[in-house]
Amino acid sequence: MPNPLKTCNFTDLEKNPTLSKIKILVTGGAGFIGSHVVRRLVNNYPDYHVVNLDKLTYAGNLANLRDIEHKPNYQFVKADIVDAAAMQQLFTEHDFQFVVHLAAESHVDRSISNPIEFVMTNVVGTVNLLNAARHAWKDRMDGRRFYHVSTDEVYGSLGDEGMFTETTAYDPHSPYSASKASSDHFVRAYHDTYGLPVVISNCSNNYGSYHFPEKLIPLAINNIVNSRPIPVYGAGENVRDWLWVEDHARAIDVILHTGKNGETYNIGGHNEWKNIDLIRLLCRILDKKLNRNTGDSEKLITFVKDRAGHDLRYAIDATKLKNELGWMPSLQFEEGLEKTVDWYLANQEWLNQVTSGDYKNYYDSQYTKR
Ligand code: NAD
Ligand code: DAU
Repeated sequence: MPNPLKTCNFTDLEKNPTLSKIKILVTGGAGFIGSHVVRRLVNNYPDYHVVNLDKLTYAGNLANLRDIEHKPNYQFVKADIVDAAAMQQLFTEHDFQFVVHLAAESHVDRSISNPIEFVMTNVVGTVNLLNAARHAWKDRMDGRRFYHVSTDEVYGSLGDEGMFTETTAYDPHSPYSASKASSDHFVRAYHDTYGLPVVISNCSNNYGSYHFPEKLIPLAINNIVNSRPIPVYGAGENVRDWLWVEDHARAIDVILHTGKNGETYNIGGHNEWKNIDLIRLLCRILDKKLNRNTGDSEKLITFVKDRAGHDLRYAIDATKLKNELGWMPSLQFEEGLEKTVDWYLANQEWLNQVTSGDYKNYYDSQYTKR
């Protein structure tokens, strides 16, 4: 039978114990946030052996990790978390101390057109990993940790007032958020039932480099640069709380190393923006960078049919993380957005690569019918 775990860039760290003190499995490490987490762990912890497991769906891209792929403490494994046997085998082959689980189907619009994929990866895939960890770590759970990376969308939608805290009741509205809520419940159930050492974080909207251009900010940047319409759902009144992705990766590092088992930590930017205001700001930044007349890019704004079940407002109260573990966002949004725009302008090749292939089909089916 062929080995379901195809590996590449493999350095046989197993044979060199001085290099492999702590083994960490990161799932979804070829995606947007995962690649920032992998980069941080590989660069900041040279004594750790970081195994990045990813299926390489349309959202996973090894080009996101070119700068660290040859490091001796990094290994890539191509596998699907829905494959229970492959996950069991992986945990037999590697004695993981930590798991940082990010692999997921992550786009709300895709969950509306194809919910079952979200159930398979986000729910079944997570349970497969929990089972693999539970069996591999049986009777030797001390010092180990299963870290589940989740979203603020599990809490549902806010009105004009208030913020999500760690005790806000779950109230998901999209198939995506329902699948993430379900996975969170399974993670807690494995802690309560089997004593699995787990920790969960729920984060607000991320932005930054390597963000796949199906999501609002990179999609808008790409469309403005190419003078294409910027699709704004509904009246653009929905509010999101934006956090620079490297601040999220740092929060994950802090929680992984200093959080408490069984706890949940909210992560957010204290940075709420109405979609339409954010798009206008992006237009102004790009008018300057592209030497256009002020107001030229704004003419591309096109109001389109609203997203079904569109949550009005997200806002995270991250006081617990600040008070207990000392984490705070580092970057002002205007500065972060400008850095992000610069990154996309300097990385047109990356953008062209990820928007070739199926992207056009996705884009046409998502936007031409609106
Ligand atoms: P992404 O879509 O950019 O990346 C997901 C990665 O998971 C990809 O590399 C993909 O190939 C991989 N993957 C998908 N299905 C898989 C499978 N069955 N087996 C193995 N790998 C698979 O997502 P992202 O935006 O980086 O989000 C990462 C995690 O963080 C997700 O769990 C998401 O719910 C959560 N999150 C995201 C945000 C955000 O703003 N993007 C905010 C809070 C939480
Ligand atoms: O809050 C955390 C979540 O943030 C993560 O869990 C998700 O994985 C991530 O995709 C993100 O979800 P959102 O639905 O908030 O992100 P998105 O970029 O898809 O949309 C942001 C807002 O912009 C939302 O109100 C919908 C709107 N939008 C989006 C797109 C793609 C538009 O108006 N036009 C668009 O073309």
